[in-house]
Amino acid sequence: VTTIVAVANQKGGVGKTTTTFALGAALAERGQRVLLVDLDPQASLTSAAGLEPDELEQTLYTAIAAYLKDQETMDVIALRRSLGERLDLLPANIELSVAEMELQTAVRREYILGELLEPARRAYDIVLIDCPPSLSLLTLNGLTVADEVIIPLVPEYLAARGLGLLLKSIQRVRKAKLNPRLAIAGIILTMTDHRTTHGKEIAASIQAHIASQAPLLGEIRRTIKVSESTAVGQPITHYAAQSEAAQAYGQIADRLLTRWSNKAPAAAPLTTSGGARV
Ligand SMILES: Nc1ncnc2c1ncn2[C@@H]1O[C@H](COP(=O)(O)OP(=O)(O)O)[C@@H](O)[C@H]1O
Ligand SMILES: [Mg+2]
Repeated sequence: VTTIVAVANQKGGVGKTTTTFALGAALAERGQRVLLVDLDPQASLTSAAGLEPDELEQTLYTAIAAYLKDQETMDVIALRRSLGERLDLLPANIELSVAEMELQTAVRREYILGELLEPARRAYDIVLIDCPPSLSLLTLNGLTVADEVIIPLVPEYLAARGLGLLLKSIQRVRKAKLNPRLAIAGIILTMTDHRTTHGKEIAASIQAHIASQAPLLGEIRRTIKVSESTAVGQPITHYAAQSEAAQAYGQIADRLLTRWSNKAPAAAPLTTSGGARV
C-alpha cells in the first residue's frame, strides 16, 4: 500500500520544500520507493532538486491540463524525473498557477490530483507532496489525496495562530467528506535556534502549545548547510549527512517508517552512496 503524505502549511518559508526533499531522500535511502510531487507553482522543490523549472516542457501541469481537456488520465509516471536511486520527482513550473485557475470550474475539482496519482500507487511506497504556501485549490487537492499531513512550523510568535487555521482546514476537509480519513502525522519544528534564550523559550512555548493539537515529529535546527545544499541541488541528508539537521530528518524518517511498519522493505539496503543524486 502506498502512503501519500502532504507537507503543508499555508505560511511560506517554514521549510515545506526542504522537509519534502530531505524526508524523501531519507526514506529512499531506507529502501522505500519515493515519489516527490511539486505542487507549488513557485517550483522551489523542482529548483532545489537541480532542475530549471522554466526549461521543463513536461510537468505536473501537463497532466492536469490533459485531464481537464478530455478527462484523460495521463500516466504521471511518464513525467517523472529521477533524482537518484528510488527517488523520483514529478516537477512543476509556473504554468501550475494556470491550473489553479482552470481547476476552479472543473467537476470534482478537489479530486484531480488523486486521479492523476493513481498510477503512482503501483510504482511507489511513499508519495510526498510539497504543497504551495496557501490554502488554495491545489493544496486542497493535496489534502484530499493524502493519507497524512506533515506540518513544518517555525517556532515564532503568531506561528500558533497560523497553525490553528491549518488545523481548521484539515478539519473541514474531513467534514466535507473530501477526505474523512486524513490524519495528522505531526508537526516538525524547523529552523529552531538554541543559541539564544529567546529562541529556546519560544521553542518551548510553541511545543507546549502544539502538544494538545498534534504530535511533534521532530525538530530541525537552523543551519547554513540547508541553503548550501539547495544551491547544489541536493537534499541536506545527502549534502551534509553528518549534520544535526540531516540526522534529525533521518530520525523522523525512521519514526514514520516504524509507524507505517507494514511498509518496512524486505531488505532495507542502507547504501553509503545515499538516495539522492550526487
Ligand atoms: N533548517 C534550516 N536551516 C536554515 N535554513 C533553512 C532550514 N530549513 C529551510 N531553510 C531555508 O529557509 C527558506 C524557506 O525554506 P523552504 O523549505 O523553501 O520553505 P517553504 O517551502 O515552506 O516555503 C529556504 O531558503 C531554505 O533554504
Ligand atoms: Mg516551498
